[in-house]
Amino acid sequence: MTAIILDCDPGHDDAIALMLALGSHEVELLGVTTVCGNQTLDKTTANAIRVLDHLGRDDVPVAAGAPRPLVREPHVQARVHGETGLDGPDLPPPAREPVPEHAIDWIAGTLSAQPRPVTLVPTGPLTNVALFLARYPELESKVGRIVLMGGAIGEGNTTPAAEFNIWADPEAAHRVFTSGLDVTMAGLDVTHKALMREQHVERLARAGRAGRLVADLYRFYSQHHRRKYGWDGSPVHDACAVAHVIDDSLLQTVRCGVKVDTGPEPSRGRTYVDRWGSTGWEPNCGVAVDIDSERFLELLVERIGGLG
Ligand code: RIB
Ligand code: CA
Repeated sequence: MTAIILDCDPGHDDAIALMLALGSHEVELLGVTTVCGNQTLDKTTANAIRVLDHLGRDDVPVAAGAPRPLVREPHVQARVHGETGLDGPDLPPPAREPVPEHAIDWIAGTLSAQPRPVTLVPTGPLTNVALFLARYPELESKVGRIVLMGGAIGEGNTTPAAEFNIWADPEAAHRVFTSGLDVTMAGLDVTHKALMREQHVERLARAGRAGRLVADLYRFYSQHHRRKYGWDGSPVHDACAVAHVIDDSLLQTVRCGVKVDTGPEPSRGRTYVDRWGSTGWEPNCGVAVDIDSERFLELLVERIGGLG
């Protein structure tokens, strides 16, 4: 069993990633930290708690983190996730508050108390992870791995150059990719290959409370991908990172040199991935280059369906 902390910005796909983690015996979810990204920090924090409330998991701590990127202005994604950040389902307001500590202090306390290194699974902008590494360098040894959703070898989704999580806080991403830690990047090249479709949602809707929540999330979230790409399905970006921790045969990864563009548009937030060793850059990241889409989606349906 792998102890993980999910650092996220719920966000429809973050919420599904959270449910996948909760439904999978291979991971022990120590807690959830939240960051400004898809929506403002107060909304992403409330959304994480609302999902946990829905599943009766008030045992899972939620710690709020950075209310804005390190340097850049926040740019919430209401056109994708709605004004609440979790539009679609009719979830009540959060039944509890986050823990009083800032997310990076909660991460520090949690890692310190763990007997073995912990895997960080960031599925939003990397602001909290960068701040944690800057504030607690002495705890780097307690970070086993960072398995993040973000970046792209190919085209972006926020600009032609960049994927949202990296684009939103490129300075934070640079700090993480140059940390020397064991970083794995699940980017758009794989998440766009594994679309959740109606047939998956219908099975989930019949499976129980958690599955019905995913169906309601999908009904809203899929509108964006139909409008923008003409797709008959939606990528569950963040669940790909969690799935890789559960079963690392689902994603094929290649060690590559990756650099983050921290300059102005139009290349802001680009992840330059030296896929074929053209540059001699230090191979600092395991980059996902392929995904077993069918097994990934079956895992989602099985594990979330199993939550009841
Ligand atoms: O580009 C996709 C990523 O941006 C996902 O993590 C999604 O939740 C948004 O945060
Ligand atoms: Ca996210």
